[in-house]
Amino acid sequence: MELAKLDPAAWDNCHFGNLIGNSLPMQDVYKLIKKVAKTDTPVLIRGEVGTGKELVARSIHKLSKRQKAHFVTLNCTALTEDLLESELFGYTAGALKQDPSGAKKGILEAANHGTIFIEGIENISINLQNKILRFLQTGEFYKLGSKTSTKADVRLLVATNGNLLHKVKQGTFRPELFYRLNVISISVPPLRDRKDDISLLARHFLVKVNKKLGKKVIGISEEAMDALIRADWPGNVRELKNVIERAVILTEGRKIELSDLPRNIRNLAKGATGWPYTQGMSLKEAIYNYEEKLILQAMKESHWVQARAAKVLGLKRSTLNEMIKRHNLSSKVKNAGKYV
Ligand SMILES: Nc1ncnc2c1ncn2[C@@H]1O[C@H](COP(=O)(O)OP(=O)(O)O)[C@@H](O)[C@H]1O
Ligand SMILES: [Mg+2]
Repeated sequence: MELAKLDPAAWDNCHFGNLIGNSLPMQDVYKLIKKVAKTDTPVLIRGEVGTGKELVARSIHKLSKRQKAHFVTLNCTALTEDLLESELFGYTAGALKQDPSGAKKGILEAANHGTIFIEGIENISINLQNKILRFLQTGEFYKLGSKTSTKADVRLLVATNGNLLHKVKQGTFRPELFYRLNVISISVPPLRDRKDDISLLARHFLVKVNKKLGKKVIGISEEAMDALIRADWPGNVRELKNVIERAVILTEGRKIELSDLPRNIRNLAKGATGWPYTQGMSLKEAIYNYEEKLILQAMKESHWVQARAAKVLGLKRSTLNEMIKRHNLSSKVKNAGKYV
């Protein structure tokens, strides 16, 4: 597949700001982004890792009346509890052990009139949940070490890839905060549920990676694209981006070929090695082999006594005997039996 040059009108339908994709599930996401951008309520952005939750948050910010102010991110999986709190709320001189004489503004203050994007909200402690809840209710917060409150006008966008409702039921996430954050939620679909977007995304990353690495890889072979579309993408768009970058580095030609893809994806190509679960065999062959394996296993565990193995497998002894003959296992079974 050559890297088709899309005309500008066609390109308009394939992306929404920096978000690439025109599959139906993504179009629903774009519609929601447009709607929520007009409001000031918090938004809960759900989705597996690498689905583009941060890009969704950035789009909301860019379309909102806060677009000229800052967009600041806070990743709750990367920082310890103390650091998270000081990053978010800031601290007064002497309040932080690591910085005894300094004072610092938190991102709530730094992003005043703007948007804060909190990633991995499911990881924060009840203590911090309480403080965020208080901020949402009053628009005020306390810096570490301060007895007077500070005001900030900030919109909260929050991402989670965990099951927050489960945490609420478990008692590790405050229901009041959950309901406040969950007034509007956007679910970003995993890549395997929008396979229509894969070729568009792959070509988009190819152009970007070429630029970044100064390479001139102009396309993706049909077999390689076919395998990319068949893949399951547990790491979603981020994983696809990495696979394209790796392929551009590895390829010796002008096109990404099947051999430039990681083995697990390469194995999915049509006609290459067949479907991985049947290891290239037809379903009939695969079932036949599996049957043989189970018979041998049952026989071994029954110390090669056919009557016992038949019972384990829920078969009549005569049926098992027929199967053993059909699989040409008679001598194998007899010989193994000798050594029990
Ligand atoms: N729809 C998309 N279009 C273009 N790039 C995307 C898309 N979704 C994700 N990406 C890219 O994939 C990577 C992961 O996206 P990110 O927003 O950090 O995912 P998440 O926050 O859900 O883990 C980033 O490099 C991002 O630019
Ligand atoms: Mg991210």
